[in-house]
Amino acid sequence: MRLAVWDPGEVFRRWRDALVQHARELGLSVDVFDAVAAPDAQADFALVWKPPADWLAGQAGLRAVFNLGAGVDAVLPLMQRLVPGVPLVRLEDAGMGRQMADYVAEAVLRAYRRMDDYAALQARSSWEPLPLPPRGGFQIGFLGLGQMGLAAARRLAAMDFPVQACTRSGTARPGVDAAWPLVSLRRIDAFLATSRVLVVLLPRTRETDGLLDYRQLRQLPAGAHLISAGRGAIIVESDLIELLDEGHLASATLDVFAREPLPPTDPLWRHPRVPVTPHVAAQTLVGPSAAQVMRGIAAFERGDLPSGLVDVARGY
Ligand code: GLV
Repeated sequence: MRLAVWDPGEVFRRWRDALVQHARELGLSVDVFDAVAAPDAQADFALVWKPPADWLAGQAGLRAVFNLGAGVDAVLPLMQRLVPGVPLVRLEDAGMGRQMADYVAEAVLRAYRRMDDYAALQARSSWEPLPLPPRGGFQIGFLGLGQMGLAAARRLAAMDFPVQACTRSGTARPGVDAAWPLVSLRRIDAFLATSRVLVVLLPRTRETDGLLDYRQLRQLPAGAHLISAGRGAIIVESDLIELLDEGHLASATLDVFAREPLPPTDPLWRHPRVPVTPHVAAQTLVGPSAAQVMRGIAAFERGDLPSGLVDVARGY
């Protein structure tokens, strides 16, 4: 079968070698080609990261599309328009959960241990011990508890931070500790009011676009910190800057933005309390991702459905 890889950000040979190796292990025969280099070639299955519309529109025989990332907001609307009915599968963890847990843990510890305050004191050669907040009251609120949110929440809970979560449905799924307070988006107000650190890891959908505006973010306790590593469009960035400048929020660690790459003129680049990283909190790893995709293809070949299938109505 013919597998197209559309991923201009990765050396194609790395995908091909890993896919061929996993196909061999599963007893599948595959012909893997670089769709960026051969855009007219037709495929049975496609592995894509942000493919252009005209390429997708030209693929008439696709049996399924595998998204080379966890979030499908870029490709799902395109598929609905151009290849409706073709199943879309997203990566499930594939080595990204651990990276996300590292990213969130680093930002939480920096906030909890007041490292930014000490950096400011150091700049003034000022020796000034600051009080440590009681750990039991330093509630970490996870907005979104999918594969990424859950990996990070488990890490923070293992580090003895109190964890709570707010999700679309507010219902627990396997791996969610029954001791964590868990509410649905309808009860976000109380959740925000008690989160000393807000970790935003929701998928981008119609429901979450622009969800965190001034009114919502103002509900966080004074001095709260924000960490955003899912999708930038969930936060109204101008409102966030206003709350930082008013001193209501202490910091915002941002990995994702409404516009990426973040334009050089964007004030977030220069904000003293906004650490910026270029959408790297959880990067796609070729090895584990190729293994997962090949298992998914093997499932389709057997007539089964793989896990990680996107629910089109839900949007993720
Ligand atoms: C990265 O943003 C991803 O969706 O995996």
